[in-house]
Amino acid sequence: MSDLQERAQALDTADALAPLRELFTLDDTVYLDGNSLGALPRHVPARVQEVLTREWGELRIRSWGESGWWTAPERIGDRIAPIVGAAAGQIVVGDSTSVNVFKALVAATRLAPEGRDEILVDAHTFPTDGYIASSAARMTGHRIVPVAPADVPDALGPRTAAVLLNHVDYRSGRLHDLPGLTAAVRAAGAVAVWDLCHSAGALPVGLDEHGVDLAVGCTYKYLNGGPGSPAYLYVAERHQAAFDSPLPGWTSHADPFAMTPGYSPADGAVRGRVGTPDILSMLALEASLDVWDGVGIDAVRAKSLALTDFFLECVQAYAPEGRVTSVTPAAHRERGSQVALRCEDAEPVMAELIARGVVGDLRRPDVLRFGFTPLYVGFADAERAARVLAEVLGAPAA
Ligand SMILES: Cc1ncc(COP(=O)(O)O)c(C=O)c1O
Repeated sequence: MSDLQERAQALDTADALAPLRELFTLDDTVYLDGNSLGALPRHVPARVQEVLTREWGELRIRSWGESGWWTAPERIGDRIAPIVGAAAGQIVVGDSTSVNVFKALVAATRLAPEGRDEILVDAHTFPTDGYIASSAARMTGHRIVPVAPADVPDALGPRTAAVLLNHVDYRSGRLHDLPGLTAAVRAAGAVAVWDLCHSAGALPVGLDEHGVDLAVGCTYKYLNGGPGSPAYLYVAERHQAAFDSPLPGWTSHADPFAMTPGYSPADGAVRGRVGTPDILSMLALEASLDVWDGVGIDAVRAKSLALTDFFLECVQAYAPEGRVTSVTPAAHRERGSQVALRCEDAEPVMAELIARGVVGDLRRPDVLRFGFTPLYVGFADAERAARVLAEVLGAPAA
């Protein structure tokens, strides 16, 4: 056994989160794609089966009340809240991240002071946020200004209405300064909207602590909600009374069953709802959140950093010189929970890695992405992934 293999074993033995892996359906594959689709918690299929057979099959329409279907969006929002540092009553679950970006951004322009006509958008944003921001800007008479997150403080001005940023960059894994940037945006009188897709469940977000205005995120990555599981929208309590959704559907009405022609919004985060919730996905997500019971996000963050440090060390030790370069920052304060390696022939390399049982993914043209989900990835996984990568890159077997 090599030094690094021995270290991996010792780190796994000392890891207080290691037993959580047993809560998931996993196999001998090294699964480093939880930043795209989280693994399945073992108990979820039985819960989904119960929803199908008992709640839908037997109770049918009664389940909207008796099985708690109607209130699921805000109830599950309250389960996500502690993971992202929010007090209860500020998060509602439903729709996709894309749809929530639209709701949040248009609502942000309506919260901003009159006469402001610019929306700053992370220049390296995940594409959907950029597309939706452009359309929202056209609809509301704003101009999009693409800005690298670090340059936002210099770009803010009396014309800035809202700023849309990613907490962790999906490609490079760079963690942006949410506390500092939020403070700068608010000091300029603008509204800060954060996309938490790549940070929620992987590191502390501190939405309330840092005074974030609005935020959105998906639940199928580090929250393990399942393919296409619904996203969420955070509306800070201080904005709820003035939050004016561009999609004011009947389920966010103050009295939905009054069926009145005029719209009158409900109080609280419920205002972010639109139409009938997608109950099957939503209840699968609710069940999957059970794995968080008793798990602190600080412990998750500590393990995530230790895992990515160790993986980078193993890559450095094993990989042939010059074949891969990390584009993920070395500094902990700038690193999310993934490692992105630039590699000229990334596409065939990732295909071969997957064939050899190490599943990461690819961002064209030349980025290999490896996501580390601390709830179920261990140090031996990190070591094996780096070793197999080195073999695929042409190093002699370690
Ligand atoms: C940062 C970011 N924002 C938005 C999305 C898109 O979310 P959805 O497809 O749920 O609308 C993704 C998807 O991976 C993402 O990574």
